[in-house]
Amino acid sequence: MERIQRADLLRRICSAEQAAQFVSHGKTVGMSGFTKAGDVKALPKTLAERAAKATRDEAFSITVITGASLGHNSDGVMAGAGLLARRLPFQVDTLLRRKINEGEVMYLDQHLSETAEQLRSGHLPPIDVAIIEAVAILDDGSIVPTMSVGNSASFVSQAKRVIVELNTSVPLALVGMHDIYLPEPVGQRQPIPLTHAAQRIGQTSIKVDPAKIVGIVITDQADSPSSVQAPDLETSAIAHHIVGFLSSEVEKGRMSDSLLPLQVGIGSIANAVMHGLIDSPFNELTMYSEVLQDSAIALLDSGTVSFASTSSVTLSEAVYQRFVSGIEQYRDKIVLRPQEISNHPEIIRRLGIICLNTALEFDIYGNVNSTHVCGTHMMNGIGGSGDFARNGQLSIFVTKSIAKGGQISSVVPMVSHVDHSEHDVDVVVTECGLADLRGLAPRERAALIIEKCAHPDYRDALRDYVSRAQKQRGGQTPHLLEEAFSWHTRFHTTGNML
Ligand code: COA
Repeated sequence: MERIQRADLLRRICSAEQAAQFVSHGKTVGMSGFTKAGDVKALPKTLAERAAKATRDEAFSITVITGASLGHNSDGVMAGAGLLARRLPFQVDTLLRRKINEGEVMYLDQHLSETAEQLRSGHLPPIDVAIIEAVAILDDGSIVPTMSVGNSASFVSQAKRVIVELNTSVPLALVGMHDIYLPEPVGQRQPIPLTHAAQRIGQTSIKVDPAKIVGIVITDQADSPSSVQAPDLETSAIAHHIVGFLSSEVEKGRMSDSLLPLQVGIGSIANAVMHGLIDSPFNELTMYSEVLQDSAIALLDSGTVSFASTSSVTLSEAVYQRFVSGIEQYRDKIVLRPQEISNHPEIIRRLGIICLNTALEFDIYGNVNSTHVCGTHMMNGIGGSGDFARNGQLSIFVTKSIAKGGQISSVVPMVSHVDHSEHDVDVVVTECGLADLRGLAPRERAALIIEKCAHPDYRDALRDYVSRAQKQRGGQTPHLLEEAFSWHTRFHTTGNML
């Protein structure tokens, strides 16, 4: 078989049910998959079927660690069957989200660069079984991943057993697009030798002792298409503000019109902002990101972006078809890396990344909440936004100024949960405007954020809050603590923040 070049591994081909027997109750399983790309398609469902039949005497639940989110409702199916005791480090599934918020699934919301490090240093339980989607197994037994790398290389290096899902729907032409490099253990570690976004520093496949491969399951299901919304008036306005801001940075001589490498987070807003760059005055842009969405392919096609480094490529169906049929032309414009490298603080600081991520809400001092709705309920997770925001050259957070038809203001007196503190945030943007917070003290930040970013319906209330906080309490960062969360509690009881 063309896709299994090592003959002695052919006898490992088996059904998903046979492969699933290598996973037992209480074990830790590392699955490939990052933002719906390159996830395993068969085993999550087969394991969930087993969990659904489990009895009190013969329980069956496991810890599942991935790169990031999975596609095809896999997380929902696993959560619904009671398979997931613990889940990390990221998810976007509606049912799993509900189980997390009901306290049924223990969820560890982690910086995406850190999971591999915590596994390597023994802070997390070791991986018992790695289940990895592959486009091919080479003659040395090494595994070529599909549309993402995520944490797969770390899982394979650590796991006692490896199950490969060989996906025949993914073109073999993908071979050569990956760059697998893992840092040495702490104490022996050398600088990671990556000094520009397009550089290759590793191998094109994941090395493995072939004896660890206990099962090979053949699948042919494509990745779940991404479901990002097309740009709308607000997201186009946000893009317009950002392009104007970056143009003024170029005029001031802080960067060339190729800017600095760009990182762009997940979601509709981030995707729309990237679309806004197509008609921008910039050229020869590079990306050093963890995920490429449709917008990145459009920018590569238009020539605005000349190279993109990522850990996953997650596309809508139409753009996936374009990508697959023109894969040869993308081969030397895209590199897929382990998320530990795409999100590594050392590299992000060295390359001077411009980071664009999305907030659920930010406060008048520039603290950002990207994960917890009204302070308690998990939305998705922090993902890689913290890796980039803390270490980037320019950390930009975007959000629409209001949510839920205007009943929620995304600019609040105090965020109900802090993912990115004021110390990590340089610029905040809504469709109303952009606030450049660099070099400003908290009192100055508050005035600028309210005038530039808050929705007009909420500006007076924010001005009133700040002025009373300054007069009644004072301080470096004036707050009325008894009132700081009143907008959230009012929304909770009346359905409206005002
Ligand atoms: N309070 C409560 N809900 C809010 C809100 C707020 N302040 N702001 C937005 N929402 C709701 C929206 O109404 C929407 O709800 P719905 O799903 O019921 O329609 C939902 O949050 C998503 O908002 P949307 O405007 O569609 O934004 P998005 O698709 O761009 O996603 C995040 C925004 C923050 C959820 C998403 O970017 C995310 O998960 N970020 C964290 C991870 C990350 O940044 N990774 C970066 C590296 S990949």
